[in-house]
Amino acid sequence: MGVSIDQDLLLGELETLASFSEVLAPAVTRIVFSPQDVRARDYIKQLCAEAGLQVREDAIGNTFARWEGASADGPAVATGSHIDAIPNAGRYDGTVGVLGGLTAIRALRRAGFQPRRSIELIIFTSEEPTRFGIGCLGSRLLSGTLDTSVDDQLRDQGGKTVKQVRSQAGFRGELKEVGVPAGHYSGFVELHIEQGPILEREKISIGVVTSIAAPASLRIVIEGEGGHAGGVLMPDRRDALCAAAEVVLAVESAARETGAIDTVGTTGVCNVFPSAVNSVPSRVQLEIDIRDIDGGRRQRVLSQVERAAGDICKRRGLRHELQVINADAPGTCDPRIVDAITRACGGLNLSYKRMVSRAYHDSLFMSRIAPTGMIFIPCRGGVSHRPDEYAAPDAIANGTRVLAETLALLAGS
Ligand code: HGY
Ligand code: MN
Ligand code: MN
Repeated sequence: MGVSIDQDLLLGELETLASFSEVLAPAVTRIVFSPQDVRARDYIKQLCAEAGLQVREDAIGNTFARWEGASADGPAVATGSHIDAIPNAGRYDGTVGVLGGLTAIRALRRAGFQPRRSIELIIFTSEEPTRFGIGCLGSRLLSGTLDTSVDDQLRDQGGKTVKQVRSQAGFRGELKEVGVPAGHYSGFVELHIEQGPILEREKISIGVVTSIAAPASLRIVIEGEGGHAGGVLMPDRRDALCAAAEVVLAVESAARETGAIDTVGTTGVCNVFPSAVNSVPSRVQLEIDIRDIDGGRRQRVLSQVERAAGDICKRRGLRHELQVINADAPGTCDPRIVDAITRACGGLNLSYKRMVSRAYHDSLFMSRIAPTGMIFIPCRGGVSHRPDEYAAPDAIANGTRVLAETLALLAGS
């Protein structure tokens, strides 16, 4: 196709989107269904409508912007990503896939491309686990891989259920209407920053993802005995935070001990109660993230952490409750989609490398119902989930061009 994309408009829209944030620039915080998220959604929907796309939303707030193709009733080709952002994040994670997707569609329309298959841009709800403790809420429900009982079972830190929060944001339908069957889409492609250092280090323009790491997350609540920091003598203590500290180190050593560079373990949340300097911690909540591109190895680390937590709490005479929030299989990208992406890179004379994704994405769940692929672009120092996350304008433009060519190949004319 050789479409030309409007790079300046794309970069300007990324800046505008970044302004919908609960914190000051350069950081971005945009928690799902927060006022800033709702404003960002309205902004994206307006851009999609102005681009002549048919916009609709489902009951969990997944947003679909559709360009009807000649065979309008047949399976569409989809692209997309997310616009929610974890606290103190950057401005490119997810947003490059949403605005890059819209830019690619606009460029194809401007070039007079007539798609045989419809092309649909999807903005998935709650890719980040921040509010409800599980990532990819929207794409899990869309792919039918999450029970709709989460509507009443998952609560945010304020105790509000998914149903209460989504209804307040204006999404009142039934979650059972969200799922679509395998075959609903003929293919799905997501453009995303790499969130790792390889492309930049090897000076390669495009990453062509072949598999997506298997994520797992668990929550451990440790209950001890609180009390006065002066009055409770050391032999009498049942300090929940000291036990939690041992668990945190057990997560780190379990991940390191596999000897595989692909195994990672992180304790990203540690809530201490009552969190007073002169009070012995009586309760601690840990949230732990364990991943590996090898599902079996990830499972062994998960089991090792579960055993370690039990042993530590038993030895210290504390109670604990462990809940596995999710333990997903890895995702495999479809050879036909991978091939289309590599052909698009070839046509644009862009260097590319097949690689795994260590971050999870909505593509992980879209791969359960549709042939899926991902296009990565380099990000500076591999940094992400930080305010200094950065993708160069040329990298964003290259990724968008590859996406446009790939969509043209997959949609057919
Ligand atoms: O955590 C992840 O891999 C994604 O950025 N939510
Ligand atoms: Mn992220
Ligand atoms: Mn992301």
